[in-house]
Amino acid sequence: MIWQRCEDYDALSEAAAQILLDALAANPRRVLGLPTGRTPVGMYRRVVAACRREYHCFRDAVTFNLDEYAGIAREHPGSYFTFMRENLFDATDIDPRNAHIPNGAAPDLDAECVHYEREIAAAGGLDLTFLGLGSNGHIAFNEPGTPFDARTRVVALTESTRRANAPLFADGHVPTHAITMGIATILDSRAIVLLAIGESKRDAIERLRSGEVSVEFPASALHGHADVRVLVA
Ligand code: GLP
Repeated sequence: MIWQRCEDYDALSEAAAQILLDALAANPRRVLGLPTGRTPVGMYRRVVAACRREYHCFRDAVTFNLDEYAGIAREHPGSYFTFMRENLFDATDIDPRNAHIPNGAAPDLDAECVHYEREIAAAGGLDLTFLGLGSNGHIAFNEPGTPFDARTRVVALTESTRRANAPLFADGHVPTHAITMGIATILDSRAIVLLAIGESKRDAIERLRSGEVSVEFPASALHGHADVRVLVA
């Protein structure tokens, strides 16, 4: 695990965007695992700005989002589908057929999870996956207690996660469940970049730095991966 301390949020966003853009420059067909949340917004902003200058960067890229809320329409303002359209997809030349997000409104959510894993495999597996960090150590929506061999599935969200994400649901109806890539799905990615910033992440960052490996701390599964970069500010 390589640690990189960034001076502030701008520097962290810049470093993350550069990793993503370099990966696409080296291989435009890269298969990317992409996060949502407040943390990656600055990274996406920079990626979009760079792609405006050099417009074809996403033309051949394939993306898979880490997770999506269950039980809300894709067009819901709080959905990760909406987040990705607003923060990346609508502003780049990605082919919508290559931009995958689990469908939390699918009639059969378990079948949707199986289908999602198959789509990742059919694309050749994830090359490079970006992750945020939950204040309780979750990655994607893999909450404490998740076995490290878990794959894409439906999960119940913890109260603390629902509270943390409540600002995205102006109507007060925060979803109770989500579809998430599993920890094993994430660990199959050839390279992983974790982004973490802010006071609320301080304890989780220190716990990750301690080297402790425990299912009670999902991010610690990353210690078992050979190519992880952690960007902190
Ligand atoms: C959410 C997402 C995670 C994200 C985390 C941190 O619950 N499912 O993928 O990493 O929260 O979000 P933020 O960056 O807003 O702190």
